[in-house]
Amino acid sequence: MDFDAKAKTWDSDPVKRERALAVAAAIRQRVPLSRDWHALEYGCGTGLLSFALHVDLGELTLADSSPGMLAVLAEKITAAGLTHLRPLALDLLADPQPAERYDLIYTLMTVHHVADVGRLLRAFRDLLQPGGWLAIADLDQEDGSFHGPGFTGHNGFDREVLRAQLADAGFGGVDFSTCHVMKKATDRGMREYPLFLAVAVRT
Ligand SMILES: C[S@@+](CC[C@H](N)C(=O)[O-])C[C@H]1O[C@@H](n2cnc3c(N)ncnc32)[C@H](O)[C@@H]1O
Repeated sequence: MDFDAKAKTWDSDPVKRERALAVAAAIRQRVPLSRDWHALEYGCGTGLLSFALHVDLGELTLADSSPGMLAVLAEKITAAGLTHLRPLALDLLADPQPAERYDLIYTLMTVHHVADVGRLLRAFRDLLQPGGWLAIADLDQEDGSFHGPGFTGHNGFDREVLRAQLADAGFGGVDFSTCHVMKKATDRGMREYPLFLAVAVRT
């Protein structure tokens, strides 16, 4: 998927803005956020989710593999005059792991783009402080109509399969809820796609 090409118009889509606000509200409800925490958003895109959460957190690192997304994000951070948000070019499956350790990692609609989910979850575990929190918001398993033909990622996730992968990767207290339902026009008409929020703690 060419996220670089989509970056400049990403924020003009109300569906994406509404989705980020709903997920921020769900994270706020389920995770005891603290202004003492250093958090990592993985696959941040233009930062819609972190812009909705940053007042509840301390230092924030916003990571993405798309230079186009990171360029838009950097412009937004400068325009807002925020000094505690830092963009980071990072693909955890290709790049060296950052030395930093985080109190919270959160991610929205990114894990389904990553082929080796088990490896990504283990990388998240290694980047968290013991007792650190992980919050994953992503698509429930769907029939492939969300992205359409040619998509090579995951068509959402079966919650029980992901629950087992989280346990294998060293997470406990795994808890799923439905945090949002996206409406999207597809070649089969208007469809609804539920999003789960999985919250877990590094054991
Ligand atoms: C569907 S977008 C979601 C962006 C943002 N979280 C939002 O909800 O607006 C997926 C994002 O994940 C990023 N991404 C995809 N694969 C990645 C990887 N392996 N490492 C880091 N970021 C990745 C893309 O560049 C893109 O910005």
